[in-house]
Amino acid sequence: MISLVHALAAVSLPLVAGVRRYRREGGESLEGRIACEHEKDCEVSLWCNVASYEDWCRINGAAGNCPAPYCRPAQASTPLPSTTTAPVPTPSPSPGPTSPPTPTPVTPTPTPVPGTCGQKKEAPAPWTQDVSISIVNGRPAPECAWPWQVNLGGCGGTLIAPQWVLSAAHCATGGFPPRTAYAGLHNRSVTSQGQRRTVIAWILHPEVRNPNKWSNDLLLLKLDSPFELNECVNTACLPTVSPQVGAKCWISGWGNLEFQQQPPPEILQEVDVHIKSNADCRDAYASISPVDETMICANGMRDGAISDACQGDSGGPLVCEEGGQWFVHGATSWGRGCADASYPGVWAGVTQSLEWIKQTAGL
Ligand code: ARG
Repeated sequence: MISLVHALAAVSLPLVAGVRRYRREGGESLEGRIACEHEKDCEVSLWCNVASYEDWCRINGAAGNCPAPYCRPAQASTPLPSTTTAPVPTPSPSPGPTSPPTPTPVTPTPTPVPGTCGQKKEAPAPWTQDVSISIVNGRPAPECAWPWQVNLGGCGGTLIAPQWVLSAAHCATGGFPPRTAYAGLHNRSVTSQGQRRTVIAWILHPEVRNPNKWSNDLLLLKLDSPFELNECVNTACLPTVSPQVGAKCWISGWGNLEFQQQPPPEILQEVDVHIKSNADCRDAYASISPVDETMICANGMRDGAISDACQGDSGGPLVCEEGGQWFVHGATSWGRGCADASYPGVWAGVTQSLEWIKQTAGL
């Protein structure tokens, strides 16, 4: 994950004078101890973590997503007409982690042409003996191998519609919500190779952290304009059913190659993993953290070593191929260490939240 310092440096939008209220998990203000007036619970509130309340309102107001009645300075103080049903993580003035979402207008996004999602240039190559290690125990991906992979700077994401990225809620709640999304990158530093978009809305799963700490770790990001789809930028398909236990799927990301090893790789990494049963995963994590039905566990085994996602891969795709199309089944979420044989990686499941995803993204 990006450090707070990096996150701060990455904030490029002009700030409204006098209203900088940087806060992070735990409620500590970075500029003195100014209270976050509009929101008490920074762990579940995104706009508490954006540069300022006004900034949030300006961005979301411009996108037609202003979360009334909170954006009073720019909007009428009464809730906007309930013309849409898309849930948004707009907490009530004194929310708990399980507060229901407030409906907010989200401009409908054009549905991608059916049949084009989930296509990639070529099938993953077979493993050879001499690959370099990565993700953990994976390898550098060929260029354009995972066209739905989005780089959010410290987190990954999956393009599910030209203007919508699926990621992990914790990529936004722990510090700053990602503001820029890149698609089509191979070397994450060669941004000229990809397409860049600005995030205009951060929509947390309405049941994030419910019933357990890492439940429903999902985030939808709306972009200022759609990515142009091409051979290197494409959407992953949304699944209809969960993958079978034992199914072989693939993960990708720019996360660490080993637990706590820095710096993370420049080149996108890939590896195959196998889906674990939730029961086994729950047992494995019994003394650590609850595993529930909103999660999906997996890891791989190659050359006698475990393959897994790691820090920095969060939010990124777990995809499985079915009938020539690739479906996104998870967003990288958590795990104990990385590639620990006793503890599989855990992804936020997609099938359980399909309705929320489709409704929010207008799919
Ligand atoms: N939470 C991590 C991140 O923010 C991802 C951890 C995944 N860990 C694992 N063992 N699969 O990047």
